[in-house]
Amino acid sequence: MQRLALKWRRAGKRVALVPTMGYLHAGHLSLVQRARQAVGPRGLVVASIYVNPTQFGPKEDLAKYPRDLPRDRRLCRAAGVDVLFTPDDAEIYPGRGTGAYTTYVVEETLTGVMEGAARPGHFRGVTTVVAKLFNLVLPEVAVFGQKDFQQAAVLQRMTADLNFPIQLIIAPTLREADGLAMSSRNKYLTAEERAQATILFHALEASKLAIKRRPVSAARLKSDLRAFMTVAPLARLDYVEFFDPATLQPVARVKPGSHMALAVFFGKTRLIDNAAL
Ligand code: PAF
Repeated sequence: MQRLALKWRRAGKRVALVPTMGYLHAGHLSLVQRARQAVGPRGLVVASIYVNPTQFGPKEDLAKYPRDLPRDRRLCRAAGVDVLFTPDDAEIYPGRGTGAYTTYVVEETLTGVMEGAARPGHFRGVTTVVAKLFNLVLPEVAVFGQKDFQQAAVLQRMTADLNFPIQLIIAPTLREADGLAMSSRNKYLTAEERAQATILFHALEASKLAIKRRPVSAARLKSDLRAFMTVAPLARLDYVEFFDPATLQPVARVKPGSHMALAVFFGKTRLIDNAAL
């Protein structure tokens, strides 16, 4: 991959990378479209598919994370991806089995809250694999989804701090008709869970309404949301947070411009969503 990328660079090709863990859906394909827009018809769009083990905790769904490479290949081809990069564990982490390998870490202020607090070690895995993908594909643009809002903020920090000459584009979340954010993990939901999973979207909308007239305390909003979520009895709230989108730090009073993120379990399936309020 890197040899090819160096050849493209020498030929003056513009390259955009869309990193994914596969099991692609329309949300991923919108990232591919955004990548194409960024580099134009003569540029090259590379999609990577790699289910990165280091970003999963020991009790998480690594082994059963959905995979369907033949289908992903077809979708990539139809979406105009030029190169699909599908490395395996030995290529990405040659030293991992020995314990002697290198990781990249963005400090706790950004990675110790929300997803980072709920999934210890998760962001170390994300930043490490994305830095490696950047070094392998040598793109000038990389596209990520806003559904993983904290991930996007952490990766922007890493890209700036490690001086990667790469522009990050954060593309909007694609939603199903009823508001559920598209995610590969939606596939795990039973019909009943799927029907109740719109609670994440409704919680975001309810909070937007609640603060429209005046700021409301975060504690009050959280307790109202807990009550609101009882309409979806299969949902178990993991966390809900109100924060400053520039710093990711919690705010005491929530007002327009504050950001909200939440994670909700349906059985073992964990869904996340976020919105600017
Ligand atoms: O957002 C994802 O799918 C993953 O976290 C990423 C960025 C591909 C890294 O494994």
